[in-house]
Amino acid sequence: MTTMFHARSSRLPGFFRLSASERIKAVARFAGLDEAELDALASPDGLPQAIASNMSENVVGRFSLPIAFATNFRVNGLDYVVPMVIEEPSVVAAASFAARLLRDEEGIAAVSTDPIMIGQVHFPEPPPEGVLEDVLERHIGEIKEQLEKNHPRLIAAGGGFRGARVRRLVDPDGRPLAVVHILVDVRDAMGANAVNSMAEEAGTLLSQWTGARVGLRILSNLPIHRRVVVEGRVKLDVEKGVSRMDPEEAARIEEASRFAEADPYRAVTANKGIMNGIDAVLLATGQDFRAVEAAAHAFAAYDGRYKALAKWRVEDGHLVGRMDIPLALGTVGGITSVHPAVRASFKILGTRVASRFAEVVAAVGLAQNLAATRALASEGIQRGHMRLHARNVAMEIGALPEEVPLVVAAMLARERTDARAAREELARIRVS
Ligand code: MEV
Repeated sequence: MTTMFHARSSRLPGFFRLSASERIKAVARFAGLDEAELDALASPDGLPQAIASNMSENVVGRFSLPIAFATNFRVNGLDYVVPMVIEEPSVVAAASFAARLLRDEEGIAAVSTDPIMIGQVHFPEPPPEGVLEDVLERHIGEIKEQLEKNHPRLIAAGGGFRGARVRRLVDPDGRPLAVVHILVDVRDAMGANAVNSMAEEAGTLLSQWTGARVGLRILSNLPIHRRVVVEGRVKLDVEKGVSRMDPEEAARIEEASRFAEADPYRAVTANKGIMNGIDAVLLATGQDFRAVEAAAHAFAAYDGRYKALAKWRVEDGHLVGRMDIPLALGTVGGITSVHPAVRASFKILGTRVASRFAEVVAAVGLAQNLAATRALASEGIQRGHMRLHARNVAMEIGALPEEVPLVVAAMLARERTDARAAREELARIRVS
């Protein structure tokens, strides 16, 4: 099964040294992109105004960010070149670097649950205990029928209503309230539309049957049942090479991980690094990244104390990283079929199966965490950032694209990254 995809290798050595137009050609070869798809990614006009105007209100134009590709990813034995939209330097390089460490054999192992989302029906003045439970038990077949009747495509795809349960809570002043959770398998959709409309329908039915007033009817952005578990391994060896790591370095990474597991202040920063990678893929693929952010942080604090999402341990001659994360992602609906660059991004990823897509996204998060933790546990992140900062300064003072690497090299040699040093070096380069 994997042979065909192994032929599609995401290794692409030297990719970072290519020009932007050579890079997009390499990605086009990897994914079999046509001219229009290539244009959607490479041209500054990737999103036509007519489409942009219909995406939001009061639209005046388009806003651009860089789109880049992380290389080296292998997840469950399949290779992926991963589109990432992000303004922060070093994120794409870090993801590619860690993906290389994690690509041995089948690469990062990922398992996802069924894509079950939760819809909430709120009862501000709840009926007596047992009434909602009783109604759900007696009418569950009818609820399923009524909720599913307007979603034939979801049902045909194998999704649909999967059950309901009652939760009883008290508000901050001690007043009781109740919530009915409806569970919906949304297949390849993010699910907000289907779940919101089913929650509204369920509210009407439950109110009729119980006589209780319904408050809000809305999906929950804590998709606790829709999760991906990823595990990545790096072989430990004193001789460094592809997929190898010095045991001392691995021990420092475990130490850093334990710090993040123990301290919420560190955990937030570590999780932010994970989201650097995840959000970048979500932006490139037109996802609701706000929903994913909200869910990830709520999940990190699910048992009452905010914790690191990923954990690293030295086990059996390997550094092993594990992460469990809720991911409500969609490959149908929203702008996934409308935005030309998003469509091209999905073609490059090579899948429109939402669970497989979520597994790749989680793998990127884990890789990002490894790269950041490794850098922090060794030389720190500032050295790498110096080069990137110098590049930004060189561009700001007007160096042409072909002059930028020369100005950066000269600035680093002088250990100066300020605008004055950049101007001096640019002047020197132009004279010579
Ligand atoms: C910076 O955007 C992300 C890091 O702070 C993540 C981390 O500390 O693990 C480097």
